[in-house]
Amino acid sequence: MNKSLTLTVPDDWHLHLRDGAMLHAVAAHSAGFGRAIIMPNLVPPVVTGAQAAAYRDRILAALPPGARLQPQMTLYLTDSTDPADVVAAHQAGLIRAVKLYPAGATTNSASGVTDFDRVRPVLEAMAQAGIPLCVHGEVTDPAVDIFDREAVFIDRVLDPIRRATPGLRVVMEHITTAEGVAYARSGGGDLGATITTHHLVINRNAILAGGIRPHYYCLPVAKRETHRLALRQAATSGEARFFLGTDSAPHPDSAKLQPCGCAGCFTAPNTMSILAQVFEDDGALDRLEAFTSLNGAAFYGLPPNAGKIRLTRRDTPAEYPAQITAGDETVTVFDPGFPLYWHQEDV
Ligand code: DOR
Ligand code: ZN
Repeated sequence: MNKSLTLTVPDDWHLHLRDGAMLHAVAAHSAGFGRAIIMPNLVPPVVTGAQAAAYRDRILAALPPGARLQPQMTLYLTDSTDPADVVAAHQAGLIRAVKLYPAGATTNSASGVTDFDRVRPVLEAMAQAGIPLCVHGEVTDPAVDIFDREAVFIDRVLDPIRRATPGLRVVMEHITTAEGVAYARSGGGDLGATITTHHLVINRNAILAGGIRPHYYCLPVAKRETHRLALRQAATSGEARFFLGTDSAPHPDSAKLQPCGCAGCFTAPNTMSILAQVFEDDGALDRLEAFTSLNGAAFYGLPPNAGKIRLTRRDTPAEYPAQITAGDETVTVFDPGFPLYWHQEDV
């Protein structure tokens, strides 16, 4: 029997749209979201308000006619970011947040922060102005095991930053561990956490058991099953501090399928169908809207989107492409490993 659910139009609080041919190929797949926080890790990165405005225009030009998506731009924090520039860009309405990548933590993070003391004045100015900091929470110390890098970051970097900068609004991006969930819960209304679609579905076995599967490799890397279950519990709890940030991160297959392949799962085309299945499996369909459409907006101080979507569970699986084309390249769409019976429509 068909089952139907009407939701406020969802938002994606962590999205990679890239640029050029890739942007043109992927933009339509996020066009049904109301708002998305756009990651600034282009080459070169988006570091000024003017660059953010120009990138926003390129995104709007790449979206199909009638697209809903309102890109929410971010600046890429570097050791030399000027606090006054950040505040001015925010006051001019050019940016919604600032992104912190520890230098070397992930794709195109070479210009990221090398010394957290050097960005202290920026963080203080952001706390004063109420500008959220979106944090890629992994240490880069090669002595720390890659599966421990999130938990160590919380202790060594994130907690000290938050203690030193009262009032700073922080989003722990794409949390992947029970420690991340617990730390997010330890904060007040100034601390939120995004959770991706793929981290609710896969654990590290998907990447490594029975052969190496590069399309499941992302950063922070998926952890063991206990952590995935903690994330599922958090996402489906309805708690205001947890909200959707897909981290949909398209890469050409030619860059993923390499001896040293790059990190990222491309989930934009099937995210809502996957999430409906996840929430149904956990008996939490009544809390899906909080996770996808309400909690993030509230954290960012924005009203929920005005429109509605309908998700209908049909007997026939929803169709989505296994790959899309971007210029001369293909990009593989995330395969959740189960059929998707939830179909999305506008109301
Ligand atoms: O898997 C990831 N891909 N994690 C990130 O932090 C960056 C992203 C990308 O830009 O490809
Ligand atoms: Zn990301």
